[in-house]
Amino acid sequence: MATFLISETALERNARLLAEVAAASGAHMLVALKACSTTACLNALRPFAAGCCASGLYEARLAQHHMGGHLAVYSPAYREEELEELLNFAHHIDFNSIPQWQRYRARCLEHPRVRSGELQLGLRINPCYSTGHTALYDPCVPGSRLGIPLEQLEGVDLSGISGLHIHTLCEQGAQELVDTFRAFEKQFAALLASPKIRYLNLGGGHWITKPDYDRAALIALLREIRELYRVEVYLEPGEAWFIHTGVLRTRVLDVFESLGFQHAILDVSASAHMPDVLEMPYRPELFAIKAQGSGVPAVSLPGETYSAAGIPGEKACTYRLGAPTCLAGDVIGDYSFDSPLKVGDELVLDDMTHYTIVKTTHFNGVPHPDIALLCRDGQIKYSRRFNYADFEHRLG
Ligand SMILES: Cc1ncc(COP(=O)(O)O)c(C=O)c1O
Repeated sequence: MATFLISETALERNARLLAEVAAASGAHMLVALKACSTTACLNALRPFAAGCCASGLYEARLAQHHMGGHLAVYSPAYREEELEELLNFAHHIDFNSIPQWQRYRARCLEHPRVRSGELQLGLRINPCYSTGHTALYDPCVPGSRLGIPLEQLEGVDLSGISGLHIHTLCEQGAQELVDTFRAFEKQFAALLASPKIRYLNLGGGHWITKPDYDRAALIALLREIRELYRVEVYLEPGEAWFIHTGVLRTRVLDVFESLGFQHAILDVSASAHMPDVLEMPYRPELFAIKAQGSGVPAVSLPGETYSAAGIPGEKACTYRLGAPTCLAGDVIGDYSFDSPLKVGDELVLDDMTHYTIVKTTHFNGVPHPDIALLCRDGQIKYSRRFNYADFEHRLG
């Protein structure tokens, strides 16, 4: 069977780097569960992380059960019953819009955990400053629903708000964060400097564990913010914890020629198991398990050697790798190999932990819609109602 195989050693390598940045900068390093909610991974990260950032109630419960520590929650919109439960155990709840803040403000402010300071409330800000190149991943695109731009704060009662949250980056370096913070500072310095503001959450998108990431520049910025504005600083990377820690091992089910292409059908689907391959779209690195090696995937097994697949035509045999599904476009990509593929050959798709396993299970922990039948007599009969246990059990 196809398997997502994740390396504990690789998780620990990333985690140590992130913990070092936290120690040197005095910032708190959270794990963004939206990137990977697999509980086996959380066990490996627990000694290194300050806690988690959750996208809603399901991820928050997961963080509480499997990680502990600090719990920061941000969602574009909270359901009433969701917020009610979060009030009992989250440490930060960040609101995405002024209407959400106004709707829940009174309820939050009367809660004993808010009154005692154990739970702090914040607003997600949109500094309207883009550094990314892919609109799908850019919260600052025109018309974005994510975060509050400066002009919307005018005249709003912010008493009870003690934190600000910005998340604008995706797979970016320290310089992009510095530039973003300067743009944010230009607009929000007065608010950030106000004694009511106790924390600044700089979101995710920091590729801190990439070899050429300028960690010294990041540490300098984080220290500057802490000292100048007297706030606790939080970072909530996802990808940086999980990058290069896992692979998806798959088998060839069939090989044939049709309409001028050599096709290989695998036992995995882009649409069902790696939707980012189609959504983004992107081309994962791929390795064949061969006697003669050239390259190593994120997770290798003892006794195996690997040969990196090439672009079409680069190596002797080119195949279109497709899924065993009915979707015509469910194609992982065209790859070339040193020798012909055979039924039963195993292939290794690289870097498949972050944002892949969650997308094949429950992205952001958004509750799965129930399934019901509208019967002839007008009754609605639920044949399946999904809950938190379904979310937790699917993650591994
Ligand atoms: C609010 C928020 N925080 C953190 C993250 C984690 O980002 P990354 O995995 O790119 O580090 C995301 C990703 O979309 C996010 O939306």
